[in-house]
Amino acid sequence: MKSKTEERYFLDLKTQKILKTGGKSKYVHIMSDGCIKKRYDSSKDDHQDHFEREIKILKHLHHWERSPCILWINWKKKTIYMTYCGPPPIPSRSYKAELGKLMEELRRDWGLYRITLDGTVTDHIDSRNLCIDEKDQSLNIIDFGSPLWILKDTQE
Ligand SMILES: Nc1ncnc2c1ncn2[C@@H]1O[C@H](COP(=O)(O)OP(=O)(O)OP(=O)(O)O)[C@@H](O)[C@H]1O
Ligand SMILES: [Mg+2]
Repeated sequence: MKSKTEERYFLDLKTQKILKTGGKSKYVHIMSDGCIKKRYDSSKDDHQDHFEREIKILKHLHHWERSPCILWINWKKKTIYMTYCGPPPIPSRSYKAELGKLMEELRRDWGLYRITLDGTVTDHIDSRNLCIDEKDQSLNIIDFGSPLWILKDTQE
């Protein structure tokens, strides 16, 4: 159970910047302490599905250093508070090889695959779902709500 103080802490945060409104989520904000608040829309069936998948995968990847960590979940409001992973890559940066390595690591070590609608395993991720860590310029992957992400059983 989350403590009351933790709940109060996240509920009291103010929006610092709106990163996105609409689409696969209701909105994504950067909050006053620098964390990310991602809210889904309870009235939309696909949002429920994306919300649940994103939580399941982010929890699974909790110890992987290239994805956001969940800080707190507001189940009632379908909202995930998570760590900020940096800005998106600049258009001139080439990250294909680095992304390929991350995707291979996800398959090998975490049993997580990205599979297109025709059933092909892919390394492709839109640059809007990538971040550049400001500490070491490394590539991070965000947004695990899509049904293209398939978590297969691993022998943990
Ligand atoms: N943890 C994070 N760290 C840094 N930036 C983030 C993070 N989460 C989201 N963002 C920013 O907010 C934008 C929207 O987030 P996200 O892709 O998770 O939302 P979405 O509604 O699922 O997106 P879409 O509908 O485009 O697939 C991202 O493109 C990214 O710039
Ligand atoms: Mg996205």
